[in-house]
Amino acid sequence: MSIILSGIQPSGSLTLGNYLGAIKNFVKFQEDLKEGDELFVFIADLHAITVPQDPTKLRDNIKKLAALYLACGLDPSKSTLFIQSEVKEHAELAYILQSITYIGELERMTQYKDKKQKQVEGVSTALLTYPILMAADILLYNSDYVPVGVDQKQHLELARNLAERFNYRYSETFKVPESLIQKTGSKIMSLQNPEKKMSKSDDNEKASIYLTDNEATIRKKIASSVTDSDNSIIFDPVNKPGISNLLSIYASCKGISIEDAVNENQNINYGIFKTRVADEVCRLLIPIQERYNSILNDNEYLNKVLDEGRDKASFFARKMMAKVNRKVGVGRKNN
Ligand code: TYM
Repeated sequence: MSIILSGIQPSGSLTLGNYLGAIKNFVKFQEDLKEGDELFVFIADLHAITVPQDPTKLRDNIKKLAALYLACGLDPSKSTLFIQSEVKEHAELAYILQSITYIGELERMTQYKDKKQKQVEGVSTALLTYPILMAADILLYNSDYVPVGVDQKQHLELARNLAERFNYRYSETFKVPESLIQKTGSKIMSLQNPEKKMSKSDDNEKASIYLTDNEATIRKKIASSVTDSDNSIIFDPVNKPGISNLLSIYASCKGISIEDAVNENQNINYGIFKTRVADEVCRLLIPIQERYNSILNDNEYLNKVLDEGRDKASFFARKMMAKVNRKVGVGRKNN
């Protein structure tokens, strides 16, 4: 029996990086679930408010992410889809885990250091404690596996450390989770600066392919992506980051290895290669977009899926939280 869990922040329009690094794998794991396994996929709205958000847009993005999960193939009869803030135990467990986390561990997090630079109104405490909330998300469900992109690896390490530390201090309680990071597609880079990861919060719209970009926009963005000028299609992320990124996108969209992607694209110029990459991206995204647009208009269905998901996740979360409170000694006996 395995428990798989992951989440995505509704903090903007999702990118091809989010799809290839995360959602695509959720769907793959869903198809491999066996009797007794569980897949929890949630919308990490509490994570989104670690940086300032417009409340109306946030609500809108939560709904859009729910529709996107479904459009990408997550099936509520097989997986549990829910909104993080609707299961109160996430914040509750995060608080308890704060009591065993050292400030130095949080200050070392690369994502914190990067995001801190970008804050104009001051750095919120939640931006610093964010990885504890992420650990709570994972440990609350006794997760075995957490499919994520490379950028979340350090946060996963903290979750593992906190599980071990809690178990050592209060006796065996949490499973120590493992990250599942795919070989191809787990770090898609910006199309404009291939030294930097593709990100939903990039100010330059040309840097990212959004999952809802139309075909013409996708083609234009890929055609104008930054590459070198030596016209050989080789996978070499250090010396040829732009072409290597396009090869990763091509391979991951087609579900083939980098090696095969290189072999399929020998002796053609960059222009033709970029057209082929765009063909693969469009082949993948256009059907998702068609489903997305119809699901987004079906409020009744979306609410039903999210209500059921919340109720099922809460059932698991309540049980774990009662156990944690008992171990830590807060509250009353049998309460
Ligand atoms: P978030 O919302 O930034 O990203 C969601 C998922 O997409 C992956 N990803 C990428 N993969 C490949 N290439 C890229 N350029 C790229 N950009 C993003 C991320 O690695 C992630 O898997 N803290 C998390 C959300 C979260 C979570 C959790 C994840 C909250 N609680 C518990 C797993 C388990 C985040 O901000 O992801």
